[in-house]
Amino acid sequence: MSKYRVQGGNRLVGDIYIGGCKNACLPILSAVVLANDVCRISNIPNISDALLSLDILEALGAKIKRINKNTVDIDPRTITSHVVPHDLAQHMRASYYFLGSLLGRFGDARVSMPGGCNFGVRPIDQHLKGFQALGATVPAIIENGMIDASATQLIGNSIYLDVVSVGATINVMLAAVKARGTTIIENAAKEPHVVDVANFLNTMGADVRGAGTDTIKICGVRVLHGVEYSIIPDQIEAGTYMACAVATGGDIILHGVIPKHLESISAKLREMGAQVSEDDDLVHVIMEGPIKACNVKTMPHPGFPTDMQPQVAALLAIAEGTSIITESIWDNRFRYVDELRRMGAQATVDGKVAVFQGVKSLNGCPVKAVDLRAGAAMMIAALAANGQTEIEDIQYIERGYENFLEKLHSVGADICRIDIPTITSMRA
Ligand code: UD1
Repeated sequence: MSKYRVQGGNRLVGDIYIGGCKNACLPILSAVVLANDVCRISNIPNISDALLSLDILEALGAKIKRINKNTVDIDPRTITSHVVPHDLAQHMRASYYFLGSLLGRFGDARVSMPGGCNFGVRPIDQHLKGFQALGATVPAIIENGMIDASATQLIGNSIYLDVVSVGATINVMLAAVKARGTTIIENAAKEPHVVDVANFLNTMGADVRGAGTDTIKICGVRVLHGVEYSIIPDQIEAGTYMACAVATGGDIILHGVIPKHLESISAKLREMGAQVSEDDDLVHVIMEGPIKACNVKTMPHPGFPTDMQPQVAALLAIAEGTSIITESIWDNRFRYVDELRRMGAQATVDGKVAVFQGVKSLNGCPVKAVDLRAGAAMMIAALAANGQTEIEDIQYIERGYENFLEKLHSVGADICRIDIPTITSMRA
């Protein structure tokens, strides 16, 4: 029971260092299961989803040694269990990556149905179709909330994904790297984190080619070695702070980023009137004058990422003119619009389309983070708003943003975290 209290109106100016990519880190931590020796993984973001992945590895029997706050040694040789328990899996979507890695190593995986943000129905049929094509037995119907996959020997095959899915692409890669023969994934997702997982697997000795294109070819190998690997920077964390600069008429330099991964976000912010410049591993965002309205359509990479959709909506709520946002990945990703309306936004939602009639300013009030990126959008709106905003349900935000308050503080935001004692902790 904690919340953020934000006093809006400060212009954010300064430097922010971007952490490791959440959506690369979670499958990479699962992929360590496939190694035959210790892996040292660095640039792990300090977020609750990463801690949960480490808890799952420990529950399976792996030994974890923390080297520093962003680096761990993981010894997967002691893994004996093939079951990811419900109490761990339920909190995180990415727990399903243990299906691919446990199946790939042991030919046996039992993972409770994953949790995660609620954007409507989140099927995993393409993951299961991929495992089945490799020769695994998968459940026709999921019973008791458990997904049970097993195979005596996985054998490479051609798999055409019916939808472009990040999760299915990565999960099939994880299962296929040690399979006998060659696997080809067609209509694969091309996100930077898909490429990072492939690079990690190749560093361990796998033979994965074509990641970043829509055809990935995997030649199975017998052994994957222990390695040292550093996770790529988080595209969405960087994009969120870029949006904070725009919302507050600010001037922020983001360090440790890969500007190429930010191209679609930079292009959209330029359309809104921001100056965005790039150098080797930094992006500089300066905003002067009013935000200009524009239209946004989310698409698989290299299109505009759905995970930046709520954050740009917070900007378009205070833009000059009318903007249309079309969400083409998820069925129900506009739940946060009600919260923006409480702050004075004028917006209508019809299915996968939201129309924002920009208002001059938003007014602070109590709001909720309805999911991770929606929570980031509330923060952006609160930083730009008149007066004070209190954001509840911040556990969603802390799943995906490391040191969120500290980073925003360092560029001049007026924010604090309020911990409200629960009845049990008051008694303790
Ligand atoms: C990942 C990200 C999430 C992001 C999403 C799209 C993680 C932990 N989460 O989610 O933040 O919003 O990519 O960039 O990395 N689909 C199917 N069947 C499947 C799988 C997916 O129909 O078996 C559909 C989904 O309903 C959705 C679309 O495919 O409409 C994309 O989903 P997917 O890319 O798989 O998203 P996730 O990997 O779950």
